[in-house]
Amino acid sequence: MGILCRLVANALDATFSKGDAVAIDMPLTVDAVVIYLAIVLAGLVVVSIADSFAANEVAVRLLISKAKGIFTQDFILRGGKKYPLYSRVIEGGSCKAIVIPVTGNRLEVDLREQDLSWEEFLSTAKEFPRSNCYSPMYHSIDAVTNILFSSGTTGKPKAIPWTQLSPIRCAADSWAHMDVQAGDVFCWPTNLGWAMGPVSVYSSLLVGATLALYHGSPLGHGFGKFVQDAGVTILGTIPSLVKTWKDTRCMEGLNWTKIRYFASTGETSNVDDDLWLSSRSYYKPLFECCGGTELGSSFIVGSPVQPQAFGAFSTASMTTGFVILDEHGIPFPEDQPCIGEIGLFPIYLGASNELLNADHDEVYFKGMPIYNGMQLRRHGDIIRRTVGGYLIVQGRADDTMNLGGIKTSSVEIERICDHVDESILETAAVSLSPIEGGPEQLVILVVLKKQYVKSSQELKDKFSKAIQRNLNPLFKVGFVKIVPSFPRTASNKLLRRVLRKQMKDELALRSQL
Ligand SMILES: *[C@@H]1O[C@H](CO)[C@@H](O)[C@H](O)[C@H]1NC(C)=O
Repeated sequence: MGILCRLVANALDATFSKGDAVAIDMPLTVDAVVIYLAIVLAGLVVVSIADSFAANEVAVRLLISKAKGIFTQDFILRGGKKYPLYSRVIEGGSCKAIVIPVTGNRLEVDLREQDLSWEEFLSTAKEFPRSNCYSPMYHSIDAVTNILFSSGTTGKPKAIPWTQLSPIRCAADSWAHMDVQAGDVFCWPTNLGWAMGPVSVYSSLLVGATLALYHGSPLGHGFGKFVQDAGVTILGTIPSLVKTWKDTRCMEGLNWTKIRYFASTGETSNVDDDLWLSSRSYYKPLFECCGGTELGSSFIVGSPVQPQAFGAFSTASMTTGFVILDEHGIPFPEDQPCIGEIGLFPIYLGASNELLNADHDEVYFKGMPIYNGMQLRRHGDIIRRTVGGYLIVQGRADDTMNLGGIKTSSVEIERICDHVDESILETAAVSLSPIEGGPEQLVILVVLKKQYVKSSQELKDKFSKAIQRNLNPLFKVGFVKIVPSFPRTASNKLLRRVLRKQMKDELALRSQL
């Protein structure tokens, strides 16, 4: 791998100039990791684009980052089928594409004049007398190595530069909070377009662990067999993936007992699904990680040296400081159970200090309170601290609602509603202010499991009873709607904002009839 990295670094020098931004839009393959590391080695900047993005999303990201080139594949192979990738990439921009064939050595697309096949690209390194040697570019610690994009729940994606410090933070976090060590086999299905991509690369390779890469969909038995056969010792997941594995029973008959630790990130996890996952390897611990692309890491996490609880975080990550703020922006005392928005301490090892297409200070600092002389950094999550000091994410600050004067969060209501009937796959809770004014109304949207039929009136009664019993006797459910699926961001985050808008329009229409 080192030899191939040096070869690619030489080829980069033949094709691009120092400091150029060069994008990667392809699955997380061995070639993708080699290209990623070679770009950093050669003192260029990686632009991370997820391989699931449509042409217009690719275009926006190439434009914002001023990318001079893009590494991609002709096709993506998923479950035996081929999906076009090169055609999406060239629709997104005119910069030079370097195209890797998905199967064997031969490309199955015709390239534009300015583009190069992987083979042609590598052959440009041959003009250097020692193409297998390379002296790395030395840069200052604040030089940019990678431009990543936030998932863009609020419209335009934010372009976030990672410096030379971010990799150190990634590796330090995984070492301290997931016990990643030399000899471990680390596997986390993701893509270089998400923060977890570079985090996985650095978390494994910088400590001498092996990075296990599966070239296919992580949804089925094939992935599980790979985890078994590769001897994975640390397996990272996202909750919806675990839910699929459990519901489809596709992982039965596999031996995952080499796994020392599980990890989970990306969304709120389900305690029953976590228990099932943990049981795959003699009930090994599962570490939750919650972070941000702009932080280069997780701010709340689990730890192998503390008792863990499913669906909860046991500590702030190493070097992270934060307070939980009440409605007036005043921090709760540290030893007290509470719910509020998190305020991060501003000195945060490895976090970004600028945005390429937005005002960093306005996004992360403006309007945040001062604590002990420090202007706190915004993240936007609502956090609950339980008795005993565990932390639970309650959703985004913009997903809180006010029901009858009581502040509550969508996630808290959904946790209860998810379990009231066996027909329910998932629920989403949003609140609406009636057009005629008055208190906010609680609306619950439901996706049913396949082959189940249920009336919304019956579910409404069940939801009301469960919420009143478990959360607050004063809460009333205003409206229930069954839908086929929920809108999600590309990184699988539930778009409650979109649901709220749809329900608002629908209820307005009904009131006119
Ligand atoms: C699972 O694999 C381990 C070795 O990794 C082996 O010791 C164990 O016996 C296997 N368990 C079963 C049920 O096959």
